[in-house]
Amino acid sequence: MSLLSRLLIKLQFSLDKLFRLDSLSRSAYDAVAMQVLAPLSTTYQPWSTSALRPSGLVKILNEIVMNRRCCIVECGGGISTVYIAKLLQQQGQGHLYTLEDNLGWIELLKALLQEQGLSDYVTVIPAPLAACNLALETNLWYDLTAFRSQFTTSTIDLLLVDGPPAYDKPRRLSRYPALPALRDLLAPDFAVILDDINRSGEAEIISKWATEFNLTFEKYLYDGDIAIARSQGGFHIG
Ligand SMILES: C[S@@+](CC[C@H](N)C(=O)[O-])C[C@H]1O[C@@H](n2cnc3c(N)ncnc32)[C@H](O)[C@@H]1O
Repeated sequence: MSLLSRLLIKLQFSLDKLFRLDSLSRSAYDAVAMQVLAPLSTTYQPWSTSALRPSGLVKILNEIVMNRRCCIVECGGGISTVYIAKLLQQQGQGHLYTLEDNLGWIELLKALLQEQGLSDYVTVIPAPLAACNLALETNLWYDLTAFRSQFTTSTIDLLLVDGPPAYDKPRRLSRYPALPALRDLLAPDFAVILDDINRSGEAEIISKWATEFNLTFEKYLYDGDIAIARSQGGFHIG
């Protein structure tokens, strides 16, 4: 075997080891997070690969508790909706508005919330994907007609962006409009959180938001894949 082949095999071995370590450390963060989340759930929750990672969810719940966020808007519902609602129920205050484009998913989400006695804490709002003048490339974004007619009394102090789906190349920048589209409803003291920042599209979005909104993002790559920025500072959630 030539020297070059031996070197290539060694390199491959080291890379494999690095990737395994990387995935082990991500799993370890999530395993600890599941223990932190345990008091919020006494029933089985259908946690799929589309959902936020447990370690990301813990940071979002930390933000709600530690920085007193009580009017939350979420783009893209799922497990996050259920856990945020549970926390709001436990705290006895706050409300979550979830924008969701998939009608079947809305039905499932509402059923889960109802079965767990959480419907009073969440308004799930149908928001079909439509052309949007703030969208980048050819992406669609949520139609806010129903949201704007229902969200009349408050300002948003936490915006969580985990939708629309953006896992494939044509839609990699599909989440960009969230901040500019909702800017008129943001409280003076607000936080914005973006999920999936391990992907190139979301990394580009936080960099654009940082420049356009003069925000500084804390990035949690191993422990959550989320980034958070606050307009006025606040307690650290990591
Ligand atoms: C990244 S997911 C949102 C996940 C959500 N925030 C959570 O933590 O579960 C974005 C969209 O994918 C869809 N979705 C979520 N979970 C799904 C699943 N298990 N199967 C199919 N579609 C799903 C929903 O329409 C959702 O708005």
